[in-house]
Amino acid sequence: MTGSTKRSSNSQKTSNASQSDNRRGGLYGSIITGTGAALPKKILTNADLERMVDTSDEWITTRTGIRQRHIAAESETLSKYGVAAGRQALEAARLDPADVSLIICATVTPDRPIPATACTIQHQLGCTKAGAFDMAAGCSGFIYALAVADQFVRSGACEHVLVVGGELLSKYLDWEDRSTCIIFADGAGAVILSRRSGQGGLLSFKLHADGALSDFIHVPAGGTALPASAETVRNRMHYIRMKGNETFKLAVRSIENVSREVLEMSGLTASDINLMIPHQANRRIIDAVGSRLGIPPERVYVNLDRVGNTSAASIPIALDEAVSRDLIHRGDRLLLAAFGAGLTWAGAVIEW
Ligand code: UT7
Repeated sequence: MTGSTKRSSNSQKTSNASQSDNRRGGLYGSIITGTGAALPKKILTNADLERMVDTSDEWITTRTGIRQRHIAAESETLSKYGVAAGRQALEAARLDPADVSLIICATVTPDRPIPATACTIQHQLGCTKAGAFDMAAGCSGFIYALAVADQFVRSGACEHVLVVGGELLSKYLDWEDRSTCIIFADGAGAVILSRRSGQGGLLSFKLHADGALSDFIHVPAGGTALPASAETVRNRMHYIRMKGNETFKLAVRSIENVSREVLEMSGLTASDINLMIPHQANRRIIDAVGSRLGIPPERVYVNLDRVGNTSAASIPIALDEAVSRDLIHRGDRLLLAAFGAGLTWAGAVIEW
């Protein structure tokens, strides 16, 4: 699935943004008007993990770049963090909850299988005029949700959409599996996507999937394929399983390729990008992608050393951090790219 608002150095073409927008379809453009993020208080360090599984700070740091991660308390829910991140995004956008007409929560770790966590967020934020639903696209979930939100804004159906990317992956981790429990983490990020007046905003996106490789990252039981039973619990089938190394190799190639696609769709090159915000999966993936694309490390945002891999939450948390640190200015071009369970991968270019 694709969308682009082609930029051009031809001044006659760029001055007519609505013509480009119409080519992509829709009456309007969309732009991020507010961001927010929320992380659990509890920090789990690599030294803590050394006491839990057969691993070492040295292995985790060199193989992933992660030094610590935030882990929710047992009683906490994803919606708690989605609400906190969403409230910040609303405040940053200077909106009332009733101004939001749609809430999309990208997650694979909802509060419960039924109903959608987005509905809990809707209720707790007091977004009384909003529809709400969840979307599952693994670690690419935030970009998928942003692309869906863009369609509602672009068509004129919604003026403001709250997009939340959130995960409490700790609840789905096998704390005896050292290949997963050292990388995944908890948190939520959020943005408000609003109708755009003028240029800029979401310039392009591209969504990909390959369900043939669904077993690369999956939870075997708890769905209709294998409903929960005493046996599935006994066999630890409700935890995330990942073919880490195979996933790693595909992630590098796919993130590179989708980044090139969305850059081309926007009429931009890597040198036009002020800040790349990649999914924070593994430092080695981020470094390899940056170097293949020719984007220097100082223009690639990294926070996974402190935050870990929060799946659908990782890009909006990193984006909110970069905004709070005043690293993003009006007119800056951002490249977002992610890869995850599905398999899915996705990219987007935003002009701030
Ligand atoms: O979030 C979106 C999707 N997910 C990703 O993008 C994750 C991509 N994958 C990765 O980040 C990496 O593959 C991992 C961090 C998960 C694993 O790193 P790796 O370099 O691919 O390690 P590996 O799975 O190839 O394992 C190499 C060795 C093995 O030992 P042997 O068989 O060579 O003796 C593993 O048993 O490292 C061992 N190992 C560990 N050792 C210490 C695996 N996990 C650990 C650990 N501590 N935590």
